[in-house]
Amino acid sequence: MMFPAVAAAGFLFTLSASAQLIISSGDGFGTYYYDIGQVDACGTTFANQNKGGVMCSSATLLSLDQMNSDYVVAMNSTQLGEDPALYCGKKVIISVNGQRSDMQLFIGDGCQRCGIGSSSSNTWNAEGAPGLDFSYTVLNKLSGGNACSEGHIAISWEILDDSIFTFHGSPSGSTPSSESSDFDTATVQPLAQSVALTINSASEGQLEVMPTTCSNNVWRCSGDVLEQCIGSIWTPRVTCALGSSCQGGSNPYCT
Ligand SMILES: *[C@@H]1O[C@H](CO)[C@@H](O)[C@H](O)[C@H]1NC(C)=O
Repeated sequence: MMFPAVAAAGFLFTLSASAQLIISSGDGFGTYYYDIGQVDACGTTFANQNKGGVMCSSATLLSLDQMNSDYVVAMNSTQLGEDPALYCGKKVIISVNGQRSDMQLFIGDGCQRCGIGSSSSNTWNAEGAPGLDFSYTVLNKLSGGNACSEGHIAISWEILDDSIFTFHGSPSGSTPSSESSDFDTATVQPLAQSVALTINSASEGQLEVMPTTCSNNVWRCSGDVLEQCIGSIWTPRVTCALGSSCQGGSNPYCT
């Protein structure tokens, strides 16, 4: 039951986007959580956030610093965890007040806030509201320079079936590449162990209600260990060196 004007707008919109298949789209809120180009902004520093591992780097741990791009976008971490191969590296088009962005934005990370609450909610809630999470630089552009004062803005988005970034993984479970040595305060655990553990646990627990299940690829701190959810099981990936501890919630790092 759309008004004619709305229906017409929707029709034009569909035409303009028809070149690329839309994998997923939605309306919600955009926020910021890191920045590589401007580490200090809005009276805060992103230095620690930038050390957080991105969810799309499931085989080789990549921090936002290592991604070295402000165009990494975080989406509903539950949705991303369901099919990382479908979303990771795919181009994202943002519309603010009907204005489409032309930045080379791509899915690279999971956002927990973006997966909590109703996907159709149009009320901002820091604890859970649909949307995406950006770098400060990108949110500032999208908000016309008001990222700091507004914190979150209303957006709509389309994730296109257009891969503009490739995450090099080693799904067979080889040891982490030399990139991991950048984590000088951490010991990275070989993924092979984790995969074996996951297979065992998954086949045993299939029929039970498992209170410890998690959304695939999401990260968390567990004591001084960075854990990643693999096969719905929290799996240790990085142990912080003696004297450093895990911080940063869903974007953890050793400090
Ligand atoms: C997040 O994704 C899950 C899985 O696709 C979906 O069930 C849920 O409604 C989404 N949440 C929000 C807030 O969009």
